[in-house]
Amino acid sequence: MLKTKDILDEKDKRLRQVSKEVIFPLTEEDKKAIELMKEYLTNSQIETLEKKYHLRPGMGLSAVQLGILKRFIVIVHEQEEKETFKTYIVVNPTITSSSEEIIFVEEGEGCLSVNRPYEGIIPRHARVTIEGFDMDGNKVKYRAREELAIAFQHEIDHLNGILFIDRIDKKDPFKDYDKYRYI
Ligand code: NI
Repeated sequence: MLKTKDILDEKDKRLRQVSKEVIFPLTEEDKKAIELMKEYLTNSQIETLEKKYHLRPGMGLSAVQLGILKRFIVIVHEQEEKETFKTYIVVNPTITSSSEEIIFVEEGEGCLSVNRPYEGIIPRHARVTIEGFDMDGNKVKYRAREELAIAFQHEIDHLNGILFIDRIDKKDPFKDYDKYRYI
């Protein structure tokens, strides 16, 4: 089982590197990592398990956060009824279209690699289309909106060596607050 301390911290230089395209088939190590990521993200969003295993709640992870510099991500999205989840596993993800509308998370984004509160606006597309591959190399295409769209943009940023804190205006963290819609 993955532990919170196994997830790289923001100070780790690997988080600033650009991850490499995956060549299929996935290695056994990569498949195992995906299973661990899915398990961690699911458990972390179930209160009893979060407490039991001392997890930090999170809905997404990229491979680089486990020190694997390859382009794959896992997102576990809680559905409206509590404790049901939809899991998205995307290898070599790309955003193929995005809305003009920009939104941001009012309380700020979180990241399992950033262990401190960090205020500020991170502008994100309200809707995105993501294309990539599943674990077996089959093409997948997802349309995401709102919170899920932000999660995809956040995780794909990781694959390019970008943390959410890099997208906050240092001099004026709440710049454009009135310009965009918050969720
Ligand atoms: Ni993150």
